Amino acid sequence: MKRIVTIVGARPQFIKAAALSRRLADFPGLEEQIVHTGQHYDDNMSDVFFRELGIPAPVLNLGAGGGSQASQTGAIMAGLEQAFAQLRPDMVLVYGDTNSTLAAALVAAKMPLPLAHVEAGLRSFRPGMPEEVNRVVTDRLSDWLFCPTKTACANLLAEGRQDGVHQVGDIMYDCFLHQRRQTDDTAVLASLGLARKSFVLMTLHRAENTDDVSRLAALVEGVGRVSAKVPVVLPLHPRTRGALDRAGLSLHAGIRVIAPQPHGVTLALAANACAVATDSGGLQKEAFFAATPCVTLRDETEWVETLADGWNRLVGPNADDVELALGAAMSLSAAEPPPVFGDGDAAGRILSVLGGS
Ligand code: UD1
Repeated sequence: MKRIVTIVGARPQFIKAAALSRRLADFPGLEEQIVHTGQHYDDNMSDVFFRELGIPAPVLNLGAGGGSQASQTGAIMAGLEQAFAQLRPDMVLVYGDTNSTLAAALVAAKMPLPLAHVEAGLRSFRPGMPEEVNRVVTDRLSDWLFCPTKTACANLLAEGRQDGVHQVGDIMYDCFLHQRRQTDDTAVLASLGLARKSFVLMTLHRAENTDDVSRLAALVEGVGRVSAKVPVVLPLHPRTRGALDRAGLSLHAGIRVIAPQPHGVTLALAANACAVATDSGGLQKEAFFAATPCVTLRDETEWVETLADGWNRLVGPNADDVELALGAAMSLSAAEPPPVFGDGDAAGRILSVLGGS
Protein backbone atom coordinates (compact mmCIF):
# COMPACT_ATOMS: atom_id res chain seq x y z
CA MET A 1 0.00 0.00 0.00
CA LYS A 2 1.40 3.40 -1.01
CA ARG A 3 0.47 6.45 1.04
CA ILE A 4 -0.23 9.74 -0.73
CA VAL A 5 -0.22 12.84 1.43
CA THR A 6 -2.27 15.53 -0.32
CA ILE A 7 -1.82 19.17 0.58
CA VAL A 8 -4.75 21.54 0.26
CA GLY A 9 -5.21 25.07 1.55
CA ALA A 10 -7.31 27.23 -0.75
CA ARG A 11 -10.78 26.93 -2.17
CA PRO A 12 -9.96 25.59 -5.66
CA GLN A 13 -7.82 22.87 -4.13
CA PHE A 14 -10.67 21.53 -2.03
CA ILE A 15 -12.69 21.12 -5.22
CA LYS A 16 -9.90 19.27 -7.06
CA ALA A 17 -9.09 17.08 -4.05
CA ALA A 18 -12.72 15.99 -3.91
CA ALA A 19 -12.52 14.48 -7.40
CA LEU A 20 -9.36 12.53 -6.64
CA SER A 21 -10.50 11.32 -3.21
CA ARG A 22 -13.78 10.08 -4.70
CA ARG A 23 -11.95 8.03 -7.34
CA LEU A 24 -9.43 6.62 -4.85
CA ALA A 25 -11.83 3.90 -3.72
CA ASP A 26 -11.19 2.19 -7.09
CA PHE A 27 -7.43 1.97 -6.43
CA PRO A 28 -6.83 -0.45 -3.56
CA GLY A 29 -3.03 -0.08 -3.81
CA LEU A 30 -3.22 3.58 -2.77
CA GLU A 31 -4.31 5.38 0.38
CA GLU A 32 -4.53 9.10 1.01
CA GLN A 33 -4.15 11.43 3.94
CA ILE A 34 -5.10 15.08 3.56
CA VAL A 35 -3.28 17.96 5.24
CA HIS A 36 -5.06 21.35 5.28
CA THR A 37 -2.62 24.24 5.52
CA GLY A 38 -5.34 26.58 6.80
CA GLN A 39 -4.61 29.16 4.05
CA HIS A 40 -8.38 29.63 3.65
CA TYR A 41 -10.17 29.43 6.97
CA ASP A 42 -13.59 31.14 6.82
CA ASP A 43 -16.42 28.62 6.95
CA ASN A 44 -17.71 29.70 3.52
CA MET A 45 -14.18 29.58 2.02
CA SER A 46 -13.24 26.20 3.48
CA ASP A 47 -15.42 23.99 5.72
CA VAL A 48 -18.50 24.22 3.52
CA PHE A 49 -16.48 22.63 0.70
CA PHE A 50 -15.44 19.67 2.85
CA ARG A 51 -19.08 19.13 3.86
CA GLU A 52 -20.59 19.70 0.42
CA LEU A 53 -18.06 17.70 -1.56
CA GLY A 54 -17.66 14.86 0.95
CA ILE A 55 -13.88 15.30 1.20
CA PRO A 56 -12.28 13.08 3.89
CA ALA A 57 -11.45 15.09 7.01
CA PRO A 58 -7.86 16.37 7.06
CA VAL A 59 -5.53 14.50 9.40
CA LEU A 60 -3.94 17.85 10.26
CA ASN A 61 -4.79 21.55 9.91
CA LEU A 62 -1.75 23.82 10.13
CA GLY A 63 -3.78 26.98 10.74
CA ALA A 64 -1.49 29.07 8.54
CA GLY A 65 -4.05 31.55 7.16
CA GLY A 66 -3.46 35.24 6.44
CA GLY A 67 -0.21 37.17 6.37
CA SER A 68 2.08 38.31 3.56
CA GLN A 69 3.19 36.06 0.70
CA ALA A 70 6.43 35.22 2.51
CA SER A 71 5.09 34.81 6.02
CA GLN A 72 2.22 32.62 4.84
CA THR A 73 4.51 30.44 2.69
CA GLY A 74 7.06 30.20 5.51
CA ALA A 75 4.48 29.23 8.13
CA ILE A 76 3.11 26.49 5.88
CA MET A 77 6.63 25.18 5.19
CA ALA A 78 7.49 24.92 8.87
CA GLY A 79 4.22 23.10 9.56
CA LEU A 80 4.64 20.70 6.65
CA GLU A 81 8.20 19.74 7.57
CA GLN A 82 6.87 18.38 10.85
CA ALA A 83 3.79 16.89 9.23
CA PHE A 84 5.81 14.91 6.66
CA ALA A 85 8.18 13.62 9.35
CA GLN A 86 5.15 12.38 11.28
CA LEU A 87 3.04 11.02 8.40
CA ARG A 88 5.89 9.43 6.39
CA PRO A 89 4.25 9.65 2.97
CA ASP A 90 5.41 7.59 -0.02
CA MET A 91 4.58 10.61 -2.14
CA VAL A 92 3.26 14.14 -1.78
CA LEU A 93 0.52 15.46 -4.05
CA VAL A 94 -0.17 19.15 -4.68
CA TYR A 95 -2.69 21.06 -6.79
CA GLY A 96 -2.49 24.26 -8.75
CA ASP A 97 -0.53 27.37 -7.93
CA THR A 98 -1.23 28.71 -4.46
CA ASN A 99 1.19 29.48 -1.65
CA SER A 100 0.20 26.11 -0.12
CA THR A 101 1.30 24.38 -3.35
CA LEU A 102 4.68 26.11 -3.38
CA ALA A 103 5.36 25.54 0.32
CA ALA A 104 4.59 21.81 0.03
CA ALA A 105 6.73 21.46 -3.09
CA LEU A 106 9.76 23.08 -1.43
CA VAL A 107 9.49 20.95 1.70
CA ALA A 108 8.89 17.69 -0.20
CA ALA A 109 11.78 18.33 -2.57
CA LYS A 110 14.20 18.83 0.33
CA MET A 111 13.12 15.90 2.52
CA PRO A 112 13.29 14.50 -0.23
CA LEU A 113 9.90 12.98 -1.04
CA PRO A 114 8.50 12.15 -4.49
CA LEU A 115 6.24 14.98 -5.60
CA ALA A 116 3.19 14.94 -7.90
CA HIS A 117 1.78 18.18 -9.30
CA VAL A 118 -1.77 18.22 -10.61
CA GLU A 119 -2.42 21.13 -13.01
CA ALA A 120 1.20 21.25 -14.14
CA GLY A 121 2.48 23.26 -17.10
CA LEU A 122 0.14 26.25 -16.89
CA ARG A 123 1.76 29.58 -17.61
CA SER A 124 0.57 33.19 -17.69
CA PHE A 125 4.10 34.32 -18.66
CA ARG A 126 3.59 37.21 -16.27
CA PRO A 127 6.68 37.61 -14.09
CA GLY A 128 6.05 38.45 -10.44
CA MET A 129 2.47 37.19 -10.36
CA PRO A 130 2.33 35.10 -7.16
CA GLU A 131 0.60 32.16 -8.86
CA GLU A 132 3.11 32.15 -11.75
CA VAL A 133 6.07 32.02 -9.34
CA ASN A 134 4.37 29.21 -7.45
CA ARG A 135 3.63 27.08 -10.51
CA VAL A 136 7.03 27.51 -12.20
CA VAL A 137 8.91 26.48 -9.05
CA THR A 138 6.51 23.63 -8.27
CA ASP A 139 6.82 22.20 -11.78
CA ARG A 140 10.61 22.38 -11.58
CA LEU A 141 10.59 20.33 -8.37
CA SER A 142 7.95 17.75 -9.33
CA ASP A 143 8.55 14.11 -10.29
CA TRP A 144 5.11 13.66 -11.86
CA LEU A 145 3.62 16.52 -13.88
CA PHE A 146 -0.06 15.99 -14.58
CA CYS A 147 -1.07 18.40 -17.33
CA PRO A 148 -4.69 19.29 -18.07
CA THR A 149 -4.14 20.23 -21.73
CA LYS A 150 -1.84 19.87 -24.73
CA THR A 151 -0.78 23.50 -24.28
CA ALA A 152 0.36 22.78 -20.71
CA CYS A 153 2.51 19.83 -21.92
CA ALA A 154 3.97 22.04 -24.65
CA ASN A 155 4.88 24.72 -22.08
CA LEU A 156 6.86 22.15 -20.09
CA LEU A 157 8.56 20.83 -23.23
CA ALA A 158 9.58 24.39 -24.12
CA GLU A 159 11.26 24.59 -20.70
CA GLY A 160 13.16 21.37 -21.46
CA ARG A 161 10.94 19.12 -19.37
CA GLN A 162 9.82 15.74 -20.76
CA ASP A 163 10.22 13.09 -18.06
CA GLY A 164 7.20 12.46 -15.89
CA VAL A 165 4.89 14.61 -18.02
CA HIS A 166 1.37 13.16 -18.48
CA GLN A 167 -1.56 14.77 -20.25
CA VAL A 168 -4.50 13.55 -18.17
CA GLY A 169 -7.25 16.11 -18.84
CA ASP A 170 -8.58 18.72 -16.47
CA ILE A 171 -9.56 17.51 -13.01
CA MET A 172 -11.89 20.55 -12.75
CA TYR A 173 -13.93 18.96 -15.53
CA ASP A 174 -14.30 15.80 -13.39
CA CYS A 175 -15.60 18.03 -10.59
CA PHE A 176 -17.88 19.97 -12.91
CA LEU A 177 -19.60 16.87 -14.29
CA HIS A 178 -20.05 15.34 -10.85
CA GLN A 179 -21.35 18.50 -9.24
CA ARG A 180 -23.74 19.38 -12.06
CA ARG A 181 -25.46 16.02 -11.56
CA GLN A 182 -26.00 16.83 -7.86
CA THR A 183 -27.41 20.36 -8.07
CA ASP A 184 -31.02 21.48 -8.41
CA ASP A 185 -30.67 24.68 -10.47
CA THR A 186 -34.29 25.68 -10.02
CA ALA A 187 -33.87 25.68 -6.23
CA VAL A 188 -30.62 27.68 -6.42
CA LEU A 189 -32.15 30.33 -8.69
CA ALA A 190 -35.31 30.54 -6.59
CA SER A 191 -33.32 30.96 -3.36
CA LEU A 192 -31.57 34.00 -4.84
CA GLY A 193 -34.62 35.34 -6.69
CA LEU A 194 -32.92 35.01 -10.10
CA ALA A 195 -34.29 33.97 -13.48
CA ARG A 196 -32.45 31.82 -16.02
CA LYS A 197 -30.10 33.71 -18.40
CA SER A 198 -31.10 37.10 -17.00
CA PHE A 199 -28.08 38.01 -14.87
CA VAL A 200 -24.30 38.25 -14.99
CA LEU A 201 -22.16 36.32 -12.49
CA MET A 202 -19.07 38.25 -11.37
CA THR A 203 -16.12 37.25 -9.19
CA LEU A 204 -12.89 39.12 -8.47
CA HIS A 205 -10.05 38.23 -6.12
CA ARG A 206 -6.62 38.19 -7.83
CA ALA A 207 -3.93 40.18 -6.08
CA GLU A 208 -3.07 41.89 -9.38
CA ASN A 209 -6.60 43.35 -9.45
CA THR A 210 -7.42 43.87 -5.78
CA ASP A 211 -4.10 45.35 -4.71
CA ASP A 212 -4.07 48.03 -7.44
CA VAL A 213 -6.73 50.64 -6.68
CA SER A 214 -6.95 52.06 -10.21
CA ARG A 215 -7.36 48.58 -11.73
CA LEU A 216 -9.97 47.65 -9.14
CA ALA A 217 -11.87 50.91 -9.73
CA ALA A 218 -11.88 50.48 -13.54
CA LEU A 219 -13.09 46.88 -13.37
CA VAL A 220 -15.94 47.50 -10.95
CA GLU A 221 -16.93 50.62 -12.91
CA GLY A 222 -17.09 48.66 -16.20
CA VAL A 223 -19.19 45.85 -14.75
CA GLY A 224 -21.21 48.45 -12.81
CA ARG A 225 -22.30 50.16 -16.03
CA VAL A 226 -23.57 46.84 -17.40
CA SER A 227 -25.46 46.25 -14.15
CA ALA A 228 -27.73 49.18 -15.00
CA LYS A 229 -29.21 46.95 -17.74
CA VAL A 230 -28.62 43.38 -16.51
CA PRO A 231 -28.35 42.57 -12.78
CA VAL A 232 -24.92 41.38 -11.63
CA VAL A 233 -24.44 38.88 -8.80
CA LEU A 234 -21.09 39.09 -7.00
CA PRO A 235 -20.10 36.46 -4.43
CA LEU A 236 -17.44 38.56 -2.73
CA HIS A 237 -14.04 37.14 -1.75
CA PRO A 238 -12.76 38.42 1.64
CA ARG A 239 -9.62 39.83 -0.01
CA THR A 240 -11.74 41.96 -2.37
CA ARG A 241 -14.14 43.07 0.35
CA GLY A 242 -11.13 44.41 2.27
CA ALA A 243 -9.62 46.06 -0.80
CA LEU A 244 -12.89 47.85 -1.71
CA ASP A 245 -13.27 49.10 1.86
CA ARG A 246 -9.69 50.34 2.07
CA ALA A 247 -9.98 52.14 -1.28
CA GLY A 248 -13.35 53.67 -0.32
CA LEU A 249 -14.89 52.29 -3.53
CA SER A 250 -18.61 51.67 -3.66
CA LEU A 251 -20.34 49.42 -6.17
CA HIS A 252 -23.14 50.38 -8.58
CA ALA A 253 -26.60 49.59 -7.22
CA GLY A 254 -27.12 46.89 -9.88
CA ILE A 255 -24.27 44.79 -8.45
CA ARG A 256 -25.67 42.53 -5.78
CA VAL A 257 -23.07 41.33 -3.29
CA ILE A 258 -23.55 37.90 -1.74
CA ALA A 259 -21.25 35.76 0.44
CA PRO A 260 -18.83 33.28 -1.19
CA GLN A 261 -20.94 30.31 -2.28
CA PRO A 262 -20.52 26.53 -2.17
CA HIS A 263 -19.24 24.95 -5.38
CA GLY A 264 -22.54 23.47 -6.57
CA VAL A 265 -24.25 26.86 -6.22
CA THR A 266 -21.45 28.66 -8.05
CA LEU A 267 -21.68 26.19 -10.93
CA ALA A 268 -25.44 26.55 -11.09
CA LEU A 269 -25.02 30.34 -11.22
CA ALA A 270 -22.35 30.07 -13.94
CA ALA A 271 -24.52 27.73 -16.02
CA ASN A 272 -27.61 29.93 -15.73
CA ALA A 273 -25.98 33.35 -16.13
CA CYS A 274 -26.10 35.08 -19.51
CA ALA A 275 -22.39 35.89 -19.03
CA VAL A 276 -19.62 35.52 -16.45
CA ALA A 277 -17.10 38.25 -15.57
CA THR A 278 -14.21 36.92 -13.50
CA ASP A 279 -10.49 36.86 -12.80
CA SER A 280 -10.63 33.29 -11.49
CA GLY A 281 -8.85 30.58 -13.45
CA GLY A 282 -11.38 27.98 -12.35
CA LEU A 283 -14.51 29.96 -13.12
CA GLN A 284 -13.32 30.87 -16.64
CA LYS A 285 -13.24 27.19 -17.43
CA GLU A 286 -16.44 26.35 -15.61
CA ALA A 287 -18.23 28.97 -17.72
CA PHE A 288 -16.70 27.29 -20.80
CA PHE A 289 -17.79 23.81 -19.67
CA ALA A 290 -21.30 25.18 -19.16
CA ALA A 291 -21.30 27.02 -22.54
CA THR A 292 -21.74 30.42 -20.86
CA PRO A 293 -19.73 33.24 -22.49
CA CYS A 294 -17.06 34.70 -20.21
CA VAL A 295 -15.12 37.94 -19.88
CA THR A 296 -11.86 37.47 -18.01
CA LEU A 297 -10.79 40.56 -16.09
CA ARG A 298 -7.09 40.02 -16.71
CA ASP A 299 -4.46 40.80 -19.33
CA GLU A 300 -3.69 37.15 -19.96
CA THR A 301 -5.01 33.67 -19.26
CA GLU A 302 -3.32 30.35 -18.53
CA TRP A 303 -6.34 28.67 -20.14
CA VAL A 304 -5.85 29.86 -23.72
CA GLU A 305 -8.16 27.13 -25.06
CA THR A 306 -11.15 28.98 -23.59
CA LEU A 307 -10.58 31.90 -25.99
CA ALA A 308 -11.87 29.78 -28.92
CA ASP A 309 -14.82 31.28 -30.84
CA GLY A 310 -15.23 34.16 -28.37
CA TRP A 311 -16.28 31.93 -25.45
CA ASN A 312 -13.79 33.84 -23.32
CA ARG A 313 -12.39 37.37 -23.86
CA LEU A 314 -9.57 39.08 -22.00
CA VAL A 315 -10.01 42.68 -20.88
CA GLY A 316 -7.58 44.98 -19.17
CA PRO A 317 -8.41 47.60 -16.54
CA ASN A 318 -10.49 49.93 -18.68
CA ALA A 319 -14.17 50.48 -17.92
CA ASP A 320 -15.12 51.06 -21.59
CA ASP A 321 -13.41 47.81 -22.63
CA VAL A 322 -15.12 45.84 -19.86
CA GLU A 323 -18.52 47.22 -20.85
CA LEU A 324 -17.94 46.45 -24.54
CA ALA A 325 -16.62 42.94 -23.92
CA LEU A 326 -19.55 42.04 -21.68
CA GLY A 327 -21.96 43.34 -24.32
CA ALA A 328 -20.26 41.17 -26.95
CA ALA A 329 -20.25 38.15 -24.62
CA MET A 330 -23.97 38.48 -23.95
CA SER A 331 -24.75 38.51 -27.66
CA LEU A 332 -22.43 35.61 -28.60
CA SER A 333 -24.06 33.17 -30.95
CA ALA A 334 -21.76 30.17 -31.20
CA ALA A 335 -22.48 26.45 -31.00
CA GLU A 336 -20.89 24.40 -28.18
CA PRO A 337 -17.34 25.14 -27.01
CA PRO A 338 -14.77 22.58 -28.29
CA PRO A 339 -13.99 19.58 -26.01
CA VAL A 340 -10.38 20.40 -25.11
CA PHE A 341 -10.25 19.54 -21.41
CA GLY A 342 -10.41 15.75 -21.56
CA ASP A 343 -13.19 13.29 -20.84
CA GLY A 344 -13.88 13.97 -17.16
CA ASP A 345 -11.68 11.22 -15.68
CA ALA A 346 -8.41 13.02 -15.02
CA ALA A 347 -8.49 11.59 -11.49
CA GLY A 348 -8.51 8.00 -12.76
CA ARG A 349 -5.51 8.65 -15.02
CA ILE A 350 -3.53 10.35 -12.26
CA LEU A 351 -4.14 7.50 -9.82
CA SER A 352 -3.21 4.87 -12.44
CA VAL A 353 0.13 6.59 -13.00
CA LEU A 354 0.79 6.95 -9.26
CA GLY A 355 0.82 3.20 -8.84
CA GLY A 356 -2.75 2.18 -8.44
CA SER A 357 -2.91 0.02 -11.55
C1 UD1 B 1 -5.50 32.23 -3.17
C2 UD1 B 1 -4.50 31.85 -4.25
C3 UD1 B 1 -5.14 32.02 -5.62
C4 UD1 B 1 -6.46 31.25 -5.70
C5 UD1 B 1 -7.37 31.75 -4.55
C6 UD1 B 1 -8.72 31.08 -4.53
C7 UD1 B 1 -2.15 32.32 -3.63
C8 UD1 B 1 -0.99 33.18 -3.90
N1 UD1 B 1 -3.32 32.70 -4.22
O1 UD1 B 1 -5.77 33.63 -3.31
O2 UD1 B 1 -4.27 31.51 -6.61
O3 UD1 B 1 -7.08 31.50 -6.93
O4 UD1 B 1 -6.69 31.49 -3.32
O5 UD1 B 1 -9.61 31.73 -3.64
O6 UD1 B 1 -2.05 31.34 -2.94
N2 UD1 B 1 -8.97 35.49 3.78
C9 UD1 B 1 -9.97 35.47 4.71
N3 UD1 B 1 -10.65 34.30 4.89
C10 UD1 B 1 -10.37 33.18 4.17
C11 UD1 B 1 -9.35 33.23 3.21
C12 UD1 B 1 -8.65 34.39 3.03
O7 UD1 B 1 -10.26 36.45 5.37
O8 UD1 B 1 -11.02 32.15 4.39
C13 UD1 B 1 -8.15 36.70 3.61
C14 UD1 B 1 -6.72 36.42 4.02
O9 UD1 B 1 -6.50 36.60 5.38
C15 UD1 B 1 -5.94 37.37 3.15
C16 UD1 B 1 -6.81 37.48 1.91
O10 UD1 B 1 -8.10 37.04 2.24
O11 UD1 B 1 -5.84 38.63 3.77
C17 UD1 B 1 -6.26 36.70 0.75
O12 UD1 B 1 -6.13 35.32 1.05
P1 UD1 B 1 -4.93 34.47 0.42
O13 UD1 B 1 -5.03 33.07 0.87
O14 UD1 B 1 -3.64 35.18 0.63
O15 UD1 B 1 -5.10 34.51 -1.13
P2 UD1 B 1 -6.35 34.46 -2.09
O16 UD1 B 1 -6.61 35.84 -2.54
O17 UD1 B 1 -7.51 33.70 -1.53
